[in-house]
Amino acid sequence: MPIVEREPPKGRRESYVLPKVPVPPLKQTLDMYLTSIKHLVKEEQYQKTKSIVEKFGEPGGTGELLQEKLLEKSINTHNWVYDYWLDDMYLNQRLALPVNSNPAMVFPKQDFRDHKDSLKFAAHLITGVLEYKKHIDTRALPVDFSRGQLAGTPLCMKQYYRLFNTYRLPGLKRDTLVIHETGSTEQEHIIVACKNQFFVMDLVVKEKTLKEMDILSQLEKMVKMAENTEERQPPFGLLTSDGRTEWAQTRDVLIKDSVNRESLAVIEKCLCVVCLDDPSGMEVGDTSRALLMLHGGGHEKMGANRWYDKPMQFVVGEDGVCGTVCEHSPFEGIVLVACTEYLMKFMTGSPSKIGRATSVSELPAPRRLLWKTTPHIQGLLKASAERLQRLVRDLDMDVHKFEVYGKEFIKKQKMSPDAYIQVSLQLAFYRCNGRLVSTYESASIRRFHEGRVDNIRSATPETLAFVKAMTDEKTSLSDSEKIKRLWDAINAQTNSTIAAITGMGIDNHLLGLREISQEIHMEMPEIFTDETYVASNQFILSTSQVPTTVEMFCCYGPVVPNGYGCCYNPQADHLLFSVTSFHGSTETSSAVFIKALDEGLVEMRDLCKTSNNFVETTPKYIYIYRNISLSIYSHLPCKH
Ligand code: COA
Repeated sequence: MPIVEREPPKGRRESYVLPKVPVPPLKQTLDMYLTSIKHLVKEEQYQKTKSIVEKFGEPGGTGELLQEKLLEKSINTHNWVYDYWLDDMYLNQRLALPVNSNPAMVFPKQDFRDHKDSLKFAAHLITGVLEYKKHIDTRALPVDFSRGQLAGTPLCMKQYYRLFNTYRLPGLKRDTLVIHETGSTEQEHIIVACKNQFFVMDLVVKEKTLKEMDILSQLEKMVKMAENTEERQPPFGLLTSDGRTEWAQTRDVLIKDSVNRESLAVIEKCLCVVCLDDPSGMEVGDTSRALLMLHGGGHEKMGANRWYDKPMQFVVGEDGVCGTVCEHSPFEGIVLVACTEYLMKFMTGSPSKIGRATSVSELPAPRRLLWKTTPHIQGLLKASAERLQRLVRDLDMDVHKFEVYGKEFIKKQKMSPDAYIQVSLQLAFYRCNGRLVSTYESASIRRFHEGRVDNIRSATPETLAFVKAMTDEKTSLSDSEKIKRLWDAINAQTNSTIAAITGMGIDNHLLGLREISQEIHMEMPEIFTDETYVASNQFILSTSQVPTTVEMFCCYGPVVPNGYGCCYNPQADHLLFSVTSFHGSTETSSAVFIKALDEGLVEMRDLCKTSNNFVETTPKYIYIYRNISLSIYSHLPCKH
């Protein structure tokens, strides 16, 4: 049964019926899985995996049984993969949130004349957040429609309703995503962090909502209070930067005391956290701003002036370094972009109302959150600080603007910009490492009810043939052979994208088959303990397109110790890349990767230009997945 996505107030907005995430055919997934790994592993290992996969998929075998169970589950639930995916991607993960999980959005650098200026900015930003939240609470946000490939279908809006009312509670084995009812009166406050102190800003005082000048006056009082060293509390925010199990254990210690319990309860229910940062002392550039968003520079800088569990955390630095750092489990980067772009436009388009509005009332002094500490807790704080410092030292980040051309040039070649950029990332990786590796590219499945993402496995055999043509076989192949291979790579990538965004990706399906086997208490099928499956889920290259229409960019860390995180933002005339890796790995270097990427992008452009002279560049797509996708959407009552 299709599900009505949203029921807005009568006459306000249209509602759309979204299909459920489909369960792909078993054979299709198993074939695609084998194709996706064949060229990435040794022949002997491939043969072993092939026989395991064939056994799993044989008629009447384990695969068919699990597939049947998944199909049943898809009938009985709104979204069969949602919980499996959420647990696997986030809640079961034990690594610390900063760098490893929380992405950041870096706002344009602000030029504050003085400290007061930065507080005015923060007050204006908070006002924007409250405006945006009003749209959410009244369900007045317009429905998003897909762009790019298969443009024009309505997208699931559910993630927007998780922006401000969620909290990731640490657990010993698994975290919990706590969801408050939208518009709950328990949630009428924000938390302001300043000098590692946490303050409560009640947004409703004597039944009146604070106006911007009230917000500013509260912020000013908080800053004054934070400066009072006698009342200063220990930097408990650091604890949230720790590994999830460590933080859960510490939290169990903290809540034995009622003061800590109360402070935690207030933070866990807030709408968002606003971090007022002191100047970091670092030279302000794109890379340093991104670093400050991702980890705050550690405990010596702003790393403790954060509460990493809270999904929406805004940073306003006195030195103009501003942005958001987000707990990722409730929403994707694309929804974050929509929200932050609204805020940026609000900030520039609607003048600050400070000085024009009258105060709502005599405002009570802001509340500082208090913490009870013991020598044991002090020790835990020290350990958290050290672990964060290690992460800070280890992160190798490079934000790079490739200015030779942008997505308009790629479109002129009649190629998908996203596919082209993915191929260029593979070329860069191959140049640096002489091999391709399991790669993750997030593909939105918001075309489906409660859809989040699946994976586009970008290291295709066609791309391997192309990158070899550009490196190992560079001199022996003609340009026409190289361009043919480029087209094959682009077509393969485009087809994988279409498969993934229409719910035919293989990663969610394999995850579902694995997890349902555990639900029915089956011994873990060999296909999931096989070294190829394990390795193919270690995404050495973790990539994501996060495009923006205002000047800002997204970044995140690698997902494995020897990997790269690569977030890119294609613009008309340039491409922005945020590349991360760990210094601790001898296999990676963000600067070397960027250099290889730059070179490859120039070579690809030259190849396209040369080929324009002798090759018919009309794309010869083999839309093998088009039929699948069209049948999924055929019943939709949407306008195209
Ligand atoms: N010739 C000319 N133009 C083409 C083309 C071709 N062959 N193929 C695509 N284009 C155009 C598109 O029409 C589109 O135009 P627009 O800029 O006017 O909208 C543009 O190029 C971009 O299309 P493309 O590069 O193919 O990518 P896409 O926009 O379809 O994006 C994904 C592909 C996978 C990134 C997207 O589907 C997706 O899933 N995005 C979400 C990723 C995500 O979740 N990120 C956050 C994770 S936290």
